[in-house]
Amino acid sequence: MKGLVLAGGTATRLFPLTIVTNKHLLPIYDRPMIYYPIATLAGMGIREVMVIVGGKSVGDVVELLADGEHFGLDLTYRYQRGALGIAHAIGLARDFVGDDAFCCVLGDNVLLGPELAHAAREFESGPWGAGTLLYKVPDPERFGVAELDPAGKVVAFEEKPKHPKSDLIPIGVYFLRQSAFGFIDRLQPSTRKELEITDLLNFYLPNDLYAPLYEGQWTDAGTVTSLIRAAELAEQESRAGRLFAPPARPTS
Ligand code: G1P
Repeated sequence: MKGLVLAGGTATRLFPLTIVTNKHLLPIYDRPMIYYPIATLAGMGIREVMVIVGGKSVGDVVELLADGEHFGLDLTYRYQRGALGIAHAIGLARDFVGDDAFCCVLGDNVLLGPELAHAAREFESGPWGAGTLLYKVPDPERFGVAELDPAGKVVAFEEKPKHPKSDLIPIGVYFLRQSAFGFIDRLQPSTRKELEITDLLNFYLPNDLYAPLYEGQWTDAGTVTSLIRAAELAEQESRAGRLFAPPARPTS
């Protein structure tokens, strides 16, 4: 399986923190934000990873992560021109991915990789066209939101609905295959002019989506409140010896 980390966008919800720098360089506890999704993929046993960069300070992101050797990864990069959406960014990885299944993690998502290794294996060897992990939150209107049928099966996702149909959201971890690229070609921009990941996932519903409940610790870090929550979570897990290896540094 290959990996993808998305580190584009303009991060306006974090202004003024992100007026002159890239959101993914901001500190979460003792390391830059982008270390977390990178470590998530490394923890899943994935080695070949593409980072999609965009927005401010792209050179600094590349300088920080370099060739990925200090994470035990083989990193390559692609540039996303503008905040065109998660599904658009995934579309840029078509050649990199080739025929392999892949896992895409959003650059502002904080969660543990080893807990996902099982899900990755299950998806890769299973029949599903795509997958994500569902997580229960108190504020679903901030995210994509799952709509479930009476049997508890996901029938649709809605991006940031005013009136959420459940409190289950797809977190920023997506399992995909080559079939995604054909669907991405058919997507239309949403009202916020982005190709939405939830619209991509909807192509696979109701029967072709792997969507288990994630019961581990998770948060995004795209707002000031969630950035603080991310730091608290990282500190808590780190003190419990559960989070990551010591902060990695480039060898040069
Ligand atoms: C994105 C996705 C949303 C998902 C969330 C998870 O939202 O569009 O469906 O639930 O990530 O972090 P964002 O917060 O990037 O706008």
